[in-house]
Amino acid sequence: MASQDDVILEVRDLVKHFPLTQGIVLKRSIGAIKAVDGVDFDLRRGETLGVVGESGCGKSTLAKLLMALERPTSGSVRVHGEDIASARGAALKRMRRNIQMVFQDPYTSLDPRMTVGDIVGEPFEIHSEVAPKGDRRRRVQELLEVVGLDPEHINRYPHQFSGGQRQRIGIARGLALQPEIIVCDEPVSALDVSIQAQVMNLLDRLQKEFNLAYIFIAHDLSVVRHISDRVAVMYLGKIVELGADAEIYDHPTHPYTQALLSAVPVPDPRGRENRERIILTGDVPSPANPPSGCRFRTRCWKAQEICSVEEPLLQVREGSGHPSACHFAEVHDVVHVA
Ligand SMILES: Nc1ncnc2c1ncn2[C@@H]1O[C@H](COP(=O)(O)OP(=O)(O)OP(=O)(O)O)[C@@H](O)[C@H]1O
Ligand SMILES: [Mg+2]
Repeated sequence: MASQDDVILEVRDLVKHFPLTQGIVLKRSIGAIKAVDGVDFDLRRGETLGVVGESGCGKSTLAKLLMALERPTSGSVRVHGEDIASARGAALKRMRRNIQMVFQDPYTSLDPRMTVGDIVGEPFEIHSEVAPKGDRRRRVQELLEVVGLDPEHINRYPHQFSGGQRQRIGIARGLALQPEIIVCDEPVSALDVSIQAQVMNLLDRLQKEFNLAYIFIAHDLSVVRHISDRVAVMYLGKIVELGADAEIYDHPTHPYTQALLSAVPVPDPRGRENRERIILTGDVPSPANPPSGCRFRTRCWKAQEICSVEEPLLQVREGSGHPSACHFAEVHDVVHVA
């Protein structure tokens, strides 16, 4: 079991606000899009943290901040105690080796003019210390084999592969520098349902083989269910509930998590009658102008006056063992059928 000593990534009060401007030539600041607005979590060696939430809640922005592809407005992202968010130059380059990303869309994330060998071996161009030039072809072939592709296909182009195979190419590239952490931003949502399970199984196998830690981003809770050790539920730039897999799926305490879970299809039709369905009404408010107090209150059936005045902190609530950001957090046992 992972212990506290195994923490390899620490995210603290992470904020990313994108300036909102008006005017074409003279850009006037008229506010900010609060894409990520105070996020805290740890990641341990070899574990998977699922990150779930509706479109626009800040998942990809969070991923980019972890990879230092975006600079935070404030807060820190420490990898083995060193802040990647403020690192520059050689230190940043060294830290980036350890945290890699698999992107959502294998159709647009691979350069169509590059061969598979060039794509998978590209990280070696930047980090030449990992693989000397004469050794690269062999390394790339080995990586292709590891992800279940034919090493003989090293000179082919992305269009000669199916969607699932392309995602394997993206995964091979992510593994090239032997990172400890891989951020998977919706890695299967662009793929056919029949292919999704194969790619999920591959990620699962690679995790065990290389003791990888994953941040696994998805829209809905059913996708991350089998791969996650812990799950963070995001709403409008914040984590609203964070807990071990069993806690989130069987005893969720935040109304938003409860609503998301009630939307997960039940395989056995007989089970549907026993389930309470929670239908969320209203749209997600704009991240440029989130509601005061609790951001979820405008769609919440439990909301009281305090919810518009006082922001609920992400903390362990009475009767439950994991943190939840709701003034009225209450354990809600979910009966899973089948
Ligand atoms: N570069 C940017 N400039 C301005 N606003 C941005 C930028 N990137 C993201 N945003 C905004 O920040 C918010 C969060 O976007 P983000 O892409 O992180 O959401 P997401 O949870 O990944 O959504 P999806 O599930 O659709 O991928 C959105 O309102 C988005 O429009
Ligand atoms: Mg996204």
